[in-house]
Amino acid sequence: MTEPRRARATEAFFGRRKGKPLRERQAAHLEHLLPSLRLDLAQHAPAELTTLFPQPVKRIRLEIGFGGGEHLVHRAAEDPATGFIGVEPFVNSMAKLLGQIEARELANVRLYDDDATQVLDWLPDASVDYIDLLYPDPWPKRKHWKRRFVSKVNLDRFARILKPGGLFCFASDIDTYVNWTLIHCRDHAAFEWTAEKAADWLTPFAGWPSTRYEAKARREGRSSAYLTFRRV
Ligand SMILES: C[S@@+](CC[C@H](N)C(=O)[O-])C[C@H]1O[C@@H](n2cnc3c(N)ncnc32)[C@H](O)[C@@H]1O
Repeated sequence: MTEPRRARATEAFFGRRKGKPLRERQAAHLEHLLPSLRLDLAQHAPAELTTLFPQPVKRIRLEIGFGGGEHLVHRAAEDPATGFIGVEPFVNSMAKLLGQIEARELANVRLYDDDATQVLDWLPDASVDYIDLLYPDPWPKRKHWKRRFVSKVNLDRFARILKPGGLFCFASDIDTYVNWTLIHCRDHAAFEWTAEKAADWLTPFAGWPSTRYEAKARREGRSSAYLTFRRV
């Protein structure tokens, strides 16, 4: 039996929420671990986001659509002084990440399991140091471009929550999305592209661990662009 179509309750998430049935352990993580790590958007965000974490952190990094979680887990493990907020509505991906958080005893990750625009609207002004948007759903058909996460309204959201000098990092293997993002950021007064030469967008970000979608792109013969924009 197919699941009843979910009423469109979110602004920017158009994908699947569930995949294969979860293993017992994964379901237990969702039931018991997620509630302690999930941001409670019904409460006001704390004025100082670093207080969301049990141990002191120096900066805040938000990853939108972490998928398999390769990047988030890698960064969180190598940098305990940064507090990470990971957002992913796909249940199987969230369950996988929770398993990694437990196995690697990561204390510097908080999570949200729905549309990232909700978190963006919850976060205080100038409170975030980095936003990672890595291989966002490409929506390659022109009639679907309006679904792309990069849009004027979402760049306004990024501009509000990023600290001055904060960075928006974007990776994609889809040329039309790379161009789309360059144009949207060029036309947005709050962002400046940091690249000075081709190597700056052809070379992966420092310490880049790659991700599942990147591996798929390589298998299918596509290269990637890595764009970094500074909040001016
Ligand atoms: C193409 S996948 C890339 C996953 C991962 N970043 C990678 O590189 O392997 C895009 C991810 O973004 C998530 N996503 C799509 N729209 C979203 C939204 N509005 N808020 C948060 N996540 C979203 C999807 O569920 C999916 O896991």
